[in-house]
Amino acid sequence: MIVTIDGIAASGKSSVSSGVARALGIPYLSSGLLYRAATLLGLDSGADLNDEAAVLAALHAHPVRLEPLAEGNRVWQGTRDLTDDLHSSTVDHGVSVVAVLPGVRAWVNDQLRQVPPPFVAEGRDMGTNVFPHAPAKFYLTASPRVRAQRRAKERPEDVDAIEAALIRRDELDHVQSAPAVDAHVIDTGPLDLEGVIGAILTGVAA
Ligand code: CDP
Repeated sequence: MIVTIDGIAASGKSSVSSGVARALGIPYLSSGLLYRAATLLGLDSGADLNDEAAVLAALHAHPVRLEPLAEGNRVWQGTRDLTDDLHSSTVDHGVSVVAVLPGVRAWVNDQLRQVPPPFVAEGRDMGTNVFPHAPAKFYLTASPRVRAQRRAKERPEDVDAIEAALIRRDELDHVQSAPAVDAHVIDTGPLDLEGVIGAILTGVAA
C-alpha cells in the first residue's frame, strides 16, 4: 500500500505524515527533505543554485541517504546526520530554485522509487508524478496566515516575514504542487493535528 500526502508549504505534511505512518505501522518518506539536502549540498559546495550541472556534481560527490523513520525522517551523508541543518531560512530560500532542476527531481524520484512499499510518501507531486497509481491520495491546504503562524513556532523570523516567504515559495512551487485529480483535498485551517490524521485514516480505510 502507498498513501500519498501532498500539499503546499507548511500545510502540516510532515507531522501529519508521521502520525499517519505511525498509526498504520509503516514508514513515511519525506521528499522535501531530499530537495532540502540537495540545496544544502549545493550551497556548501559554493554552487550557483541555478546551475544544474554544479548542483548535480555536488550530489554525486557527496551521496546522501534518506532514513524513512516513522517518527521523523533523517538524512545522512555517510555518518554525518544533515537533518538539523535542512530547515534553516537559507535552505528555505534556496530550495524552490533547486527543485525546478529536472536532474535534481530525477535524483529525488529515483531514491523514492527504490523503497519497497508499504509507506506514506509526502511532498508536492507524490500523487501526481511519483506514485500516480497510489490507491489513497491526500492534499493539504491552509491559508498563508495560518501556515505562517504554525511555522513561526519553528523559525526565528516574525510571522509577517514568514508569510511573505511562504507566498513566494507557493508561487515558485506551483507547477509541481497541483493536487492529483483523485486526491482528497483537506483544508487543515480549522483542524488540529489529530483531526487531520483522523480524516486521513478514515479516508484510507474507506
Ligand atoms: O515543509 P515545507 O512544505 O515547507 O517544505 P518541504 O516539504 O520540506 O519542501 C521543501 C521544498 O522542496 C518545496 O518548497 C519545494 O520547492 C520542494 N519540493 C518539491 O518540489 N517537490 C516535492 N515533492 C517536495 C518538495
